[in-house]
Amino acid sequence: MSLEGKRILVGVTGGIAAYKMATFVRLLKKQGAEVRCMMTPASSDFITPLTLSTLSGSPVGIDFYNPKTGEWTNHVEWALWADVMIFAPVTASSLAKMAHGFSDNFLMATYLSAKCPVFVAPAMDLDMYQHPTTKANLDRLESFGYTVIPAESGFLASGLEGQGRMAEPEVLLRYLQDHFQYDARFSGKTIVITAGPTYEAIDPVRFIGNHSSGKMGFSLAEAAASKGAEVILVSGPTHLKTSHEKIRVVRVTSALQMLEAVQHHWDQVDWGIFASAVADYRPTVAADQKIKKTAETLHIDLEKNPDILSWASANRTAQKVVGFALETQNGLEYAQGKLEKKKLDAIVLNEMGEPGVGFGTDTNSVKLIFKSNKIRSFELQSKQELAFSLLNELMNNLYE
Ligand code: PMT
Repeated sequence: MSLEGKRILVGVTGGIAAYKMATFVRLLKKQGAEVRCMMTPASSDFITPLTLSTLSGSPVGIDFYNPKTGEWTNHVEWALWADVMIFAPVTASSLAKMAHGFSDNFLMATYLSAKCPVFVAPAMDLDMYQHPTTKANLDRLESFGYTVIPAESGFLASGLEGQGRMAEPEVLLRYLQDHFQYDARFSGKTIVITAGPTYEAIDPVRFIGNHSSGKMGFSLAEAAASKGAEVILVSGPTHLKTSHEKIRVVRVTSALQMLEAVQHHWDQVDWGIFASAVADYRPTVAADQKIKKTAETLHIDLEKNPDILSWASANRTAQKVVGFALETQNGLEYAQGKLEKKKLDAIVLNEMGEPGVGFGTDTNSVKLIFKSNKIRSFELQSKQELAFSLLNELMNNLYE
């Protein structure tokens, strides 16, 4: 899990986006983090301390002193406990306090005791976000070495539209993953990753395709970007999106377009990872108009698509080349055959038929086979987690 054992202190201040922090805490826990939450008194009007303590599995810090138990909560101990602090949402008022060191509640006192990296996700109305005071306060936090997670644009609770919405919980998570997963060995490397299916046109409304969702390829792209690589993600048709600034998405439809996109970038990349499910054949001729339902039978002539992975392997200079194989029988034998025939550095084998494995699922279980014949098995896990594990294993082995 990408945040396994990391201690994350989440600070919630009093804005409407506080309701999203329940989701954020869930995401952190799913990634294996230890989570403590602290809240300003005003934030409990938007989300209850009980919600955050239940989801985090830990008491919530709001006051220094609990009159019922007579206990004092030590803000310095909380600050030293944390591997990182993330404050979200941060209102204009809390931002001003953070920028200028006002310590009038437990959250602010803990913030001022921080010895760890600090992330700040502001959320406020459009005009407040654009005010020079807010800009100056955000700049000031950055000048302290803290990371500001910019507000996003969209509909605001006030009814206005523009920048001011807190970044989505998934984006907050990504900032923390980038922080903890960063691996200097990936920095300066560019990786082309193919993802998703290809659609081969029969006529303007029909195509030959397959069930690939793109989840495996997108997960690899996001994990590689978190590790510090620049990524060119060549994706067939899928509904998936990514907003990671280190990922350039090139959308294609057919195998020929995917080949062209890979060829266009191949000289600039250090690795190629080919996770897409490319159609092996395409209709020899795609009809200009919709084919009418007149004949009792219909024959479509197919011709072979070029093999993108084989092209990349044959045209490599120093690139590392990693393929995928999806097999329904004799998986190991077929995957090893592809590894040898296509002269790959490694191949990732999915064996269809096992529950939760392969097309469309959120999870996967694979074997990673190196050209040395070393095999590493990965048990069923989310495609996101698997992507991090695969990249670590590849990096540990490909430069031996
Ligand atoms: O997208 P998801 O729903 O998350 O599913 C992930 C996945 C199962 C699609 C993925 O993990 C996977 O296994 N992709 C490869 C599937 C496949 O079709 O394998 P293959 O045995 O046909 O091809 C072997 C390798 O050659 C693959 O790296 C493939 O990208 C590549 N290839 C194949 C044909 C072709 N014309 N060009 C290619 O580059």
